[in-house]
Amino acid sequence: MKTVVSGIRPTGQLHLGNYFGALKNFVKMQNDANCYFFIADYHSLTTHPDPQNLHDNVKNALAEYLAAGLDPQTTTIYIQSDLPQTAELSLLLSMHAYVGELERTASFKEKIRKHPDNINAGLLCYPVLMASDILIHRADFVPVGKDQEQHLEMTRKFARRFNTIYGVEYFPESMPYNFGQDLTKVPGLDGSGKMGKSEGNGIYLADPDEVIRKKVMRAVTDQGPTEPNQPMAEPIANIFAIMKIVSHPETYDFYLAKYNNCEIRYGDMKKQLAEDIIAVVAPIRERIADIKANDVYLREVVEAGAAKARASADETMRNVREIMGIKPF
Ligand code: ADP
Ligand code: TRP
Repeated sequence: MKTVVSGIRPTGQLHLGNYFGALKNFVKMQNDANCYFFIADYHSLTTHPDPQNLHDNVKNALAEYLAAGLDPQTTTIYIQSDLPQTAELSLLLSMHAYVGELERTASFKEKIRKHPDNINAGLLCYPVLMASDILIHRADFVPVGKDQEQHLEMTRKFARRFNTIYGVEYFPESMPYNFGQDLTKVPGLDGSGKMGKSEGNGIYLADPDEVIRKKVMRAVTDQGPTEPNQPMAEPIANIFAIMKIVSHPETYDFYLAKYNNCEIRYGDMKKQLAEDIIAVVAPIRERIADIKANDVYLREVVEAGAAKARASADETMRNVREIMGIKPF
């Protein structure tokens, strides 16, 4: 049976990008694989959250992911900091991670650009910790969105390097996963780029229907095509990209044909898109509040998850320590 691992930083509400980029793929695999899903609270410390808020953010992320379809019966769901074995593995792997390659990571360079006042060593070592999350369970697949591709490449590099240095075939090649297709990038509705928390352009799974309608109707458009089969400007391509992900294929084909013969009415298309998004989001939103209010259930989920995750992690750490020459007296 294949092992699948994924995680998310508890830094805000879950949006359509998180859902379609990562979670939906994970949920589809829950019955056919050995699945681990964790809330990456260690990773969120790189941006210094207020200690007062951290726990609530973790709880919120957990409740939203459960509402969106994570199943504690089939998936081991845990909080990253409940598995300090990950931190130990990260320390050990960091001995074979070179500062130069960490400095060249795209996400690190972006952080330097955006937050030049907070370039801490935790940010530099982010990919090593992420590799440890994945390798602690020796994952075969990691369902993530396109923005995580480079982190997955680095995970494989660290795994191969470990195997080569110690002459073992211990760590697998963990592959990003999106049901046999390219990784998904859900664009924003503000004209360019991806949908993201830090981009402030998210449609959230907790958004009420009216808010979703407003956000979609505000999406950037243009005057419309003036000749058949005209290439789309980025904001229009983005609306079509979201429709392709969310709506029925026939709906998408219908509006594409309208665009291609210059009969598109963006207002109609957006109304349809908003309703199709609501059809996905509303049932999830309705579950979020109930789950969030149920502290007993949440505690049961993470306690059972931590125990199962520890069993898998302890085995890995026993092996890794031995391979590296750390042995009991
Ligand atoms: P954000 O970018 O909003 O801060 P995270 O970085 O916490 O979100 O991402 C959590 C997961 O969601 C990752 O697997 C990431 O690849 C995926 N993800 C985030 N935004 C998108 C997007 N716009 N399209 C596809 N996947 C995304
Ligand atoms: N870096 C991921 C993100 O920003 C979150 C993450 C941390 C993760 N560790 C992971 C995702 C391990 C998959 C597997 O979205």
